[in-house]
Amino acid sequence: MTATPHNGLGRKDVEMTESGSTMAEAPAAKVAPVALYELSRLERTFTKGSVSVKAVRGVDLVINVGEMVSLEGPSGSGKTTLLQLLGALDSPTGGSIRFEDRDLSAMSDKDLTKLRAEEIGFVFQHFNLIPTLTAAENVAIAMFPNHVRSRERLARAKELLDQVGLAPRMGHLPSRLSGGEQQRVAIARALANHPSVIIADEPTGNLDTDTAKEVMVTLNGLRSSAGVTIVIATHDEDVARFTDRRIRMRDGKIREDSAA
Ligand SMILES: Nc1ncnc2c1ncn2[C@@H]1O[C@H](COP(=O)(O)OP(=O)(O)O)[C@@H](O)[C@H]1O
Ligand SMILES: [Mg+2]
Repeated sequence: MTATPHNGLGRKDVEMTESGSTMAEAPAAKVAPVALYELSRLERTFTKGSVSVKAVRGVDLVINVGEMVSLEGPSGSGKTTLLQLLGALDSPTGGSIRFEDRDLSAMSDKDLTKLRAEEIGFVFQHFNLIPTLTAAENVAIAMFPNHVRSRERLARAKELLDQVGLAPRMGHLPSRLSGGEQQRVAIARALANHPSVIIADEPTGNLDTDTAKEVMVTLNGLRSSAGVTIVIATHDEDVARFTDRRIRMRDGKIREDSAA
């Protein structure tokens, strides 16, 4: 976790523009990019009986610390499969994937579980909040496996909800929140353990256009304030436009990379 600057909590002086740049910021110093992910000839083939599907077929990709990247592509193009590999939720059937200079395919399940809990925040299309817990509790509970004390958990949950603009809503149950608010709770939850990266699979898939934009503005703001790298799968052009690097997938391969 040395390469990732994080914990910009409290940087409320920074005002955000739609493109995600920050107005109150000093010009960024030119520093050499640090690779967060290095994928080489990555493959994931699903086999069931005699049928096999090559969901990811030979992906070479470097994602640097602090980037905000979108993975675009039609349904079935391999976005979710690639995100699951990036999130260490699944293992490749070929090639290699390095995260913070560690070879994920060489790690034990126990180490992968620890890595997911400490380094990776997930955001899903359906929010996946616990309906019987308040917004603050939904965020706080994410810190439970990492042995954060109860009072500290709640304090950080409140801080994070404030950061995503939900301070007045923290005592509400998910059913009392709009879709966009629920997704912002999920984003706060994803940040709970100071991850290096947020992996978001169609995070705006259940939201209308204006709300989707709001969620993208929130994510974009966190990229600069919390210094977190963000990878978003989406089939929505308008969502992808918020990112600074657009990668297009088709049939399990990268067809276009705006950084290339
Ligand atoms: N667990 C699985 N078992 C078998 N096939 C799968 C599995 N997950 C995904 N696939 C297949 O892999 C391909 C890519 O799927 P996916 O990564 O979900 O694409 P996307 O997220 O772009 O819609 C599809 O053909 C899909 O049916
Ligand atoms: Mg998908």
